[in-house]
Amino acid sequence: MIGFSDRLRALPGYPLAEIPAIKRRLVEQGVDVIDLGAGDNDAPPPDIAIETMVGAVRTTALSKYGFQQGLPEFRQAATRWVERRFGFRFDPATETLPLIGSKEGLAHLVFAVANPGDVAIVPEPGYQAYIGGAILAGAEPHIVPLRREQQFLLELDQVPESVLARAKIVFVNYPNNPTAAVATPEYLERTVAICRRHGILLAYDNAYCDLTFDGYRAPSIFETPGARDVAVEFFSLSKSFSMTGWRIGFAVGSRELIGALTRVKSYIDTGPWLAIQKAGAAALDQAEALVAPIRSELERRRTAGVAALKAAGFAVDSPKAAMYLWVPLPADVPSAVFARRSLEEAGVVILPGSAFGPAGEGYFRIALTVGAARLGEAASRLGEMLERMRRGAFATTA
Ligand SMILES: Cc1ncc(COP(=O)(O)O)c(C=O)c1O
Repeated sequence: MIGFSDRLRALPGYPLAEIPAIKRRLVEQGVDVIDLGAGDNDAPPPDIAIETMVGAVRTTALSKYGFQQGLPEFRQAATRWVERRFGFRFDPATETLPLIGSKEGLAHLVFAVANPGDVAIVPEPGYQAYIGGAILAGAEPHIVPLRREQQFLLELDQVPESVLARAKIVFVNYPNNPTAAVATPEYLERTVAICRRHGILLAYDNAYCDLTFDGYRAPSIFETPGARDVAVEFFSLSKSFSMTGWRIGFAVGSRELIGALTRVKSYIDTGPWLAIQKAGAAALDQAEALVAPIRSELERRRTAGVAALKAAGFAVDSPKAAMYLWVPLPADVPSAVFARRSLEEAGVVILPGSAFGPAGEGYFRIALTVGAARLGEAASRLGEMLERMRRGAFATTA
């Protein structure tokens, strides 16, 4: 018999791992399932990415190992985009690193800074790669609950000094998944200041920086003075360009920090497929034109989804960014029960707050991955579901 490692056993379970199987069964039974689970937009990838990819697939040189260096064209397009978007420059060769999706880089970064027993500070609710990366690297996760009364901000000054002294890395993600919260410049300043004081690496996950509404503009961590000494910032082509399955993102930061992540990765992977890097470069070079329609469609969905959920009896806030609605539940309704019944009885896939850790309890997450009319339909089914749960009735059909 093969025994498993303590690290594997320490990985938190996913409370609704059975969702895909239930969904498949319902679809086979002819139920009209509305899937608002994964943050995977229904928009196609940009034509320019597809066309570039088709040519790239036929280019033998792009079928070879990319190694960590990858395609210089991608690094250059990434740094050009950062410069256009935020106004500052990173060296494409030494301060930029292509990733097999930003998740991969986020999870691997812990290996570069934490020894077994060191602390990694992770938000909860939060993206699973943070705690997973920490545990797999042998670090000790220190969970910081994100609370609505604090605008879902991870406040390092509320972490005990003794923990900060042992912390080697903190994961910060705004616009946030799953709460859709955003960060102010003042928040980023105090966070950078504490990281500098304690020598904590700030992994700034900016996967949703271009999915912003109502004129809001999401900052880069590097707009904060002093951030270059302590931060690595992660960007993704997944959400902005509807390219989730392509697995392409990148990190930027100082030569030392990017060099450290590069060294870790060189023992684990051989970089994203060069053809995808070529297609990604083409998309990045046209980012402004390509992202605008995705952003405005998400804004329409956000507005319609919030209105429909309110009409259905949910007290949801209207977010300024990301692609999620983080919806409060009545105190006596456990989110996993609500999510399971929503799927089985209303045919709507949502994620329970508890899937993002115990501090996510009391909420569910809706991904704005379908059009406004379908969101409206989902909201009214969820409203009826909640009503049935409130009345304690046991309904069996959608
Ligand atoms: C907060 C956050 N960071 C990173 C990612 C990963 O994106 P990628 O597809 O680039 O790995 C996601 C994906 O859902 C996310 O929600």
